[in-house]
Formats: sequence, structure tokens, C-alpha cells
Amino acid sequence: MESTAKAICILINHDTGYRGTVNFEEQDGKTKITGTFKNLPPGKHGIHIHEFGDLSNGCVSAGAHFNPFKKTHGGPADEERHVGDLGNVEADSEGNATFELVDHLVRLTGEHSVIGRSLVVHADEDDLGRGNFEDSKTTGHAGARIICGIIGVCKN
Ligand code: CU
Ligand code: ZN
Repeated sequence: MESTAKAICILINHDTGYRGTVNFEEQDGKTKITGTFKNLPPGKHGIHIHEFGDLSNGCVSAGAHFNPFKKTHGGPADEERHVGDLGNVEADSEGNATFELVDHLVRLTGEHSVIGRSLVVHADEDDLGRGNFEDSKTTGHAGARIICGIIGVCKN
């Protein structure tokens, strides 16, 4: 029997009041990701794991989407995707959102662990690589980074 690993990411933007909490739980080679967000602009927002846990220059220094296998950007259900591609989170008219995904690529253990990397939410919808924009195949044309946080180990 494999053991369970847990992680948490707190996302907060003190200027805008956007905030969220996302929990990660890895078990039997899959990771369940569940989150709640408040005060987001209504609508869909791209959500990704970015490669660095460096927020020294805000969400910008988090780098590109976490992509250890050198793939093209996609959505979480696609075979061709970055490990960090989690799709979209959709906020209601009040700015509340919940997120839930069970993912087979995101790992909290081993060589490609996402611990110490960051989670970023974007201003716009992620087109999952299906758009015709110049950056559809790299970032899903999701626009500015509006909120981010570092993924850290939490009590099992
Ligand atoms: Cu992103
Ligand atoms: Zn991507």
C-alpha cells in the first residue's frame, strides 16, 4: 500500500483581495486537487502549476508552466499537455469558485514533485491550446497572472 502525501497552497493578492486555498493529496499514483477561491472576477480563469516557487517579483518570477517532459500546452484531460496544465477555475457572479481535479501527472513525491513550485491563476480563460492565438500553444492565452502562491508540504 502506498502512502499518502499532502500539500497546500495559499494564494493571496493583498491589493485586489483575490484569495484562494488549494489542497493536494497524492494517493496510489494520482493527486486529488481541491480548492476554494473568493473575490475573483466572475468567469473562467486559467490555473496552472508554474515551474518556480519564486515570487520575489510577484507571480512573474514563477516562470513558465511546469513542463518536465517538454510537451506542448494543453488541458488536464489531454495527452499532450504540460504537467502544470490544470485547465480553468470558474468564478460565479459573486467571485466565489471551487476547483476539483484528480490528476495522474501532478506528483507530490519523486523526481517531478510539484512541492516548492507555484500555483498561478490568470485573468482570462485558458483555451487549452485550442485557440488560434500566438500563445495558445504555450500558455493557453490566459493573460495576466492575477494571483499565485507556493505549494508547500502540509501535515499528513
Ligand atoms: Cu499559468
Ligand atoms: Zn501549459
